[in-house]
Amino acid sequence: MLLLLSLATPALGLAQQVHPALWPQGRPGLLLDPDREARITALLARMSPEEKVGQTIQADISTVTPEDLDRYPLGSVLAGGGSGPGGDDLAPAPAWLDLADRFYRASMRPRPGRLQIPIMFGIDAVHGHNNIVGATLFPHNIGLGAAHDDDLVRRIGAVTAAEVAVTGIDWTFAPTVAQAQDLRWGRSYESYSDDPALVARYATAMIDGLQGELASKSFEDDAHVVATLKHFLGDGGTWHGRDQGDTPCSEADLIRLHASGYGAAVAAGALTVMASYSSWQGTKMHANHDLLTDVLKGRLGFNGFVIGDWNGHGQVPGCNDAACPLAFNAGIDMFMAPDRWKALFESQLLALRQGTISEARLDDAVRRILRVKLLAGLFDKGPPAQRRLAGRFDMLGNPAHRALAREAAGKSLVLLKNDAALLPLSPRQTVLVAGSGADNIAKQAGGWTLSWQGGNKSPDNFPGATSIFAGIRRLVEAAGGHAQLSEDGSFTARPDVAIAVFGEDPYAEFSGDRSSLDYQPPPRRDLQLLRRLADQGIATVAVFLSGRPLWVNPELNAAGAFVVAWLPGSEGEAIADHLFVPADGKTARDFTGRLPFAWPATALAQDGPALFPRGYGLSLADRASLPSLSEESGVTAVAAGRAPIVMAGALIAPWSAQLGDDTGSLRATLPHQLSGSGTVALDMEAKQGTPGEMRVTWQGGTGEFSLFGPNRAWRQAIAGEPVLQLTYRVVIPPSAPVRWGQTDMTARMRAPAAAAWQTTRFRLSCLVPQWQATEQPLLLASAGSFSLAIRDAELVADRGDAVCG
Ligand code: BGC
Ligand code: BGC
Repeated sequence: MLLLLSLATPALGLAQQVHPALWPQGRPGLLLDPDREARITALLARMSPEEKVGQTIQADISTVTPEDLDRYPLGSVLAGGGSGPGGDDLAPAPAWLDLADRFYRASMRPRPGRLQIPIMFGIDAVHGHNNIVGATLFPHNIGLGAAHDDDLVRRIGAVTAAEVAVTGIDWTFAPTVAQAQDLRWGRSYESYSDDPALVARYATAMIDGLQGELASKSFEDDAHVVATLKHFLGDGGTWHGRDQGDTPCSEADLIRLHASGYGAAVAAGALTVMASYSSWQGTKMHANHDLLTDVLKGRLGFNGFVIGDWNGHGQVPGCNDAACPLAFNAGIDMFMAPDRWKALFESQLLALRQGTISEARLDDAVRRILRVKLLAGLFDKGPPAQRRLAGRFDMLGNPAHRALAREAAGKSLVLLKNDAALLPLSPRQTVLVAGSGADNIAKQAGGWTLSWQGGNKSPDNFPGATSIFAGIRRLVEAAGGHAQLSEDGSFTARPDVAIAVFGEDPYAEFSGDRSSLDYQPPPRRDLQLLRRLADQGIATVAVFLSGRPLWVNPELNAAGAFVVAWLPGSEGEAIADHLFVPADGKTARDFTGRLPFAWPATALAQDGPALFPRGYGLSLADRASLPSLSEESGVTAVAAGRAPIVMAGALIAPWSAQLGDDTGSLRATLPHQLSGSGTVALDMEAKQGTPGEMRVTWQGGTGEFSLFGPNRAWRQAIAGEPVLQLTYRVVIPPSAPVRWGQTDMTARMRAPAAAAWQTTRFRLSCLVPQWQATEQPLLLASAGSFSLAIRDAELVADRGDAVCG
């Protein structure tokens, strides 16, 4: 199958030359011990080409079984954000340990003619061991950036490592050391700060915490795991903050604004580095030999291995998910090949036979992987289930770990407004707790929590965790006061004071991209809540849950006090700790968090004027009141009742276009920023399109095309059931049936009139099963040749004229 997706995007610039000598000379943390290197040489000498190639491939547990290792001697497996043992995201911790143990045992099973090389199991433990039910959830990185506390970060790393070790997993894809330059980026919350010095200190602290200090006894002992610096390089510098986009800055800025975490953490002994999906000056990082090999491995002295990102190699022009010698030759040592790993295994072997990949390059990659496995103690630690912390499930979310998460969440709070010294509050009064975030643990935990995108979970999925309301109630009731929960802020007994907890709904990666920094489109429901309370003369404290600074001037005006809580994690009590005078009458805990990024004065863009500079944050003793702020956001609001997805052929953030195969599993995500020409995934290609339209072309084989976006992208704009309004034209009529979800669309697409542009409104409830749950309003599948041009797609309110097929 060949599925073509054409996007109208600006042409790419020419790649710039890299000058390694301009980069700070690195200090290699991982030294090349002669005995260890000799041991690797001896192993290499006994390995077959299949064994070597296998080491360079990582498969996702949703598509690989321990039995597969009989035939494919893979070096690693991962559990992606949406994967869990037995296909269950919410599998209990023992099932994770059991799975890790089975993979290890399968890799070590004696087989004739095969060496026993322990497999390495990786997972995204990015704010605690966040895929595991019951694990401690720490604040996301941006909150830690506000805490300005290296030692705290080191301790969080150590606790996270211990909880990962409990489940027998070897490796976490953390820390992210991105320095977000444009907060419209959906991964801004994974960035500690845009302060290079802070990121360098935190990178080191987190590496020390996760791996144990280099050259100490604790390094990679039973309580520590392998860490990953990501995403190399420039992930936080993409144009307009578009995820996986192009970072156009100069080499000097790449060094100054994006590299500080790497130099520091390579010196601290970071064992792996993940390549970025993004490009630098038009070249995909997965294909950038100069930066991966000459700079990272050469100049910076990195002796560990480079892991690719999730099918990131498939986005390199000329490559696909199943074949990319180019990325390997550029310096990717291990492919993250979640689903096409079998085909990749074959294509790597073929490339080796044909000489596209040299034996020397393969040996170098395998040497690096074996070095990391040796340094991580994987050859000595034994089966996961027998390791010291394995199976200590009582350690997941134990009181000491939760206390640390509570400390971190408390230290991350930034006070932006405290007029008339509203804070600290007395707990001996009637407190109304309102807002969508008041009693919502999934929301306070954000993305990368139990699932990739986070959200949509019930309190039962967070045993031991505390919502913000539950924390407030406990403290207030202990002091003899009264706390009442009311999401919409209505009440029967008049409260003395109100706390409104609101903010961004969870998201991950590109689905968190925004087109502006405006917090909430009209009708600004949370502002209405704040104003309703103010109109009744009730003093209100706003607690803002957010992955980033956003333009909230109207909300700042409407609240008496305003606290930024970021994405605090599982310990909601931390908020109460800082809002109230303690019951024992001691002095209230002060606000010590300071902004890790500047706070925007308009919603327009990042480089606009700052309302509050980086480093800003009030203490309780600060008495200045905040003057009334302009309520002009600077952006023209999208009319209520519309949620644009594609306009004039271009995708609107946070929507993305996705291509899938006949199994329905995700194959390639083509976010709006995808540019240039080239193959983006096996059988699928993205080409420069006719400006003004997006063109999707099937060229045989079963393929699916969908528009994907989080529900929140339209929930706030459209009341009731939306319909999809599509402006399209059939370029090549379908040779085989076309389905939209359950419905046969063949006749519509074959009609002669379909060759001309037309606008039709489609009723989703009859096309896509359970349309409310789905995030894919358009989902087309076909198996023949077919080409469709889309000019505009948007969700609009139903006017009663929508069709079913
Ligand atoms: C993300 C990485 C993550 C990987 C595995 C990718 O989509 O960019 O940060 O480690 O998936 O889940
Ligand atoms: C996986 C994530 C991955 C993402 C990349 C998801 O299906 O669960 O781990 O980062 O795809 O697009």
